[in-house]
Amino acid sequence: MADITLRNAASIEQIQHRVAVLQEALPYIKQFYGSTIVIKYGGAAMTSPELKASFARDVALLKLVGMNPIVVHGGGSDISRYSDRLGLDVRFVDGLRVTDAQTMELAKMVLVGKVNKEIVGQLTLAGVASVGLAGDDGGLIRAEKVDDGSADLGHVGRVTAIDPKVLDRLGDEFVPVVASVGVGSGGESYNINADTVAAALGKAVHAERVIFLTDVEGLLADVEVPSSLISRTDLATIEKMLEQGASSGMIPKLQAVRDLLRGGVPAAYIIDGRMPHSVLIELLTEAGVGTMITR
Ligand SMILES: Nc1ncnc2c1ncn2[C@@H]1O[C@H](COP(=O)(O)OP(=O)(O)O)[C@@H](O)[C@H]1O
Ligand SMILES: [Mg+2]
Repeated sequence: MADITLRNAASIEQIQHRVAVLQEALPYIKQFYGSTIVIKYGGAAMTSPELKASFARDVALLKLVGMNPIVVHGGGSDISRYSDRLGLDVRFVDGLRVTDAQTMELAKMVLVGKVNKEIVGQLTLAGVASVGLAGDDGGLIRAEKVDDGSADLGHVGRVTAIDPKVLDRLGDEFVPVVASVGVGSGGESYNINADTVAAALGKAVHAERVIFLTDVEGLLADVEVPSSLISRTDLATIEKMLEQGASSGMIPKLQAVRDLLRGGVPAAYIIDGRMPHSVLIELLTEAGVGTMITR
C-alpha cells in the first residue's frame, strides 16, 4: 500500500483562525523587516524553564522573519543565589546592589559565564545562531563608577559610551546577547542595571523598538492596582511620572524609556515577561499586551 497520511479533522474554522493570526502579523512583519529590536530580558521569563524556551523561540521567529533582535540581560536573582552559596553579603541601597570587588568578580562570572551562555544555548536550540557579548568585547559598553555623593556602591557603574562596532561586524548573521557588565578605563568591570544598558544600546544602534520584559503586566498608573495597566502613553507622561517620583524597579525602566524616546527611538514597550509569547503579541498584533510608549 502506498504511503498515505490521512488529514486529521481540524475544523475549517480552526484553520481559518490560524490564517487570520498570520494575516494580522503581516503588516507588522513588513514594518519591522530589517530593523533592529532591542529586548531587555529579565524577571520570571529568565527563571522558568518553559518561559526561557518560549522566549528563545519568539526571538528566533523575529530573526527568521527578517528583524534584527538584540537581547540585553541582567541576572540579579542568579547573582544573589551564588552570593549566598559563597557566603558573600547581599545588600541593596535604593534598589542597587552593593558590589564590592569580590561580588563584582562573582557577578561577572554568573552573568557572562552562566546566564549569557544559557541564553545563547536556548537561541541555538530554537534554531538561530547567536553570539554572547559583555562590555569588554570590542569595548561594547564603556562605563564608570556611579558616584552621586550618596552611599558607596562599589562596582556599580553607569554607561559612558557604547561602541557598536563589534555588533556591526557580526552583521545580521547572529543574534547578539549582551550581558549588562561594563568596562572601565582601567579595564575594571562594572555591574550596570540592564534597563540602562538596553537604553544606551538601543540609542547607539538606532533601534526601531526597545522592549522591556518585566514581572508585572506593564506600566501601571497605580502600582497597587493591577487593573490600572496603561496600554499606550507618551514621553511627556513618562517625564511627569519621573518628576513626581516613580517607585523602585520602575525608575531605571522609565528613565530608559525617556532616554530612548529623546534619543530618537520611535517607541518602547514595557510588557509582562510572565506571559508566554508576550514579545510576539506586543510586536505583531494590533492590540498588544503591555504598555506602548511613543514620542
Ligand atoms: N507604576 C508602576 N508600574 C509597574 N510596576 C511598578 C511601578 N512602580 C514600581 N513598580 C515595580 O517595578 C518592578 C519591576 O522592576 P524590577 O523589580 O527591577 O524587575 P525587572 O527589572 O526584572 O523588570 C515591579 O515588580 C513593580 O513592583
Ligand atoms: Mg530591574
